[in-house]
Amino acid sequence: MNIRFEKNTAPKEKPQDNTLGFGKIFTDHMFMMNYDPENGWHDARIVPFQNISLHPAATVLHYGSEIFEGLKAYRRADGGIQLFRPLENIRRMNNSAERLCLPQIPEKDALEALTTFVRTEAEWTPHSEGTSLYLRPFMFGNDESLGVHTVHHALFVIIASPVGSYYAEGINPVRIMIEDEDVRAVRGGTGYAKCGGNYAASNRAGERAAQKGYSQVLWLDGVERKYIEEVGAMNVMFLIGDEVVTPKLTGSILPGITRKSCIEILQKEGYKVSERLLSVEELSNAMKDGTLKEAWGCGTAAVVSPIGELLYKDQKYIVNGGKIGKLTQHLYDTLTGIQWGKTADPYGWIYKL
Ligand code: PLP
Ligand code: COI
Repeated sequence: MNIRFEKNTAPKEKPQDNTLGFGKIFTDHMFMMNYDPENGWHDARIVPFQNISLHPAATVLHYGSEIFEGLKAYRRADGGIQLFRPLENIRRMNNSAERLCLPQIPEKDALEALTTFVRTEAEWTPHSEGTSLYLRPFMFGNDESLGVHTVHHALFVIIASPVGSYYAEGINPVRIMIEDEDVRAVRGGTGYAKCGGNYAASNRAGERAAQKGYSQVLWLDGVERKYIEEVGAMNVMFLIGDEVVTPKLTGSILPGITRKSCIEILQKEGYKVSERLLSVEELSNAMKDGTLKEAWGCGTAAVVSPIGELLYKDQKYIVNGGKIGKLTQHLYDTLTGIQWGKTADPYGWIYKL
């Protein structure tokens, strides 16, 4: 793939690592390429970070044809930079594209776009522990017409943001509200795809949770409102007795790459891991009788994030005394050890640049 490069002649000053937060600061460049049926993907370019101009009838503005991904570039102690399982993100992006009728990107082109872009912005990858360069590839339909139909013109973009922790709590436990009114997704819908509409539809419940002092909501399945699904920006896992339980991928849950990695780590270490249906009733019984030992969320932005409190129907449950549990801490250390290159990677997950 030929990638044209237009250098930003007015680069910004790099931020201090302790001021990063999540997704507020952007690097000097962005990757872009266009799609149309005559030319396929074309005009791949890395250009100065800039606003995108759209026709007012562009598909994405009316019918929400948009998908995205999230992955990180990590700075190793030797100064080098590495990605974590980038092909998993590329494959999931193509699955999301298939669901939303957006065009596929050949895996090797997507990987080349990503790695070329990260090399260009390498200096923006922060050095401090707990920081990384968050990469946000996204694609949207921009046909300039109001008919509802599959997308014929699309734009693929990658932007990057140096980040610290996603939650203000950092690695401290977050408080989560189990939502029993709104639903996020149903089987046959778009729950397994990473599309903007899933998040837009989540905001009302998220706002209600925030008003009560909770960081995010834990969704129940959209049909029976009975089974635990996932949190707004992460998958969930529970240590119940000696079994790690995580909701199985029924089609309405995002197949998280962190989730998959945590399962693989736990299984390799001999833990009993079950991907199964977990009813909210089973979970609340486990909270009442004390068999729920630990709870955590996992995701690229959230990493491994302990859950210290769950609210369900106005009943509060404190998990593990509101503190991070031993297994949660162990998973955090193991996963981030591999991601930041502090420990060996026996899984072949690391992609060094
Ligand atoms: N579930 C949702 C709804 C998410 O937005 C994310 C974040 O990407 C995840 C789960 C975790 O997925 P991953 O581990 O691939 O980042
Ligand atoms: C990620 O973890 O990469 C996500 O996409 C979560 C998010 C919606 C901030």
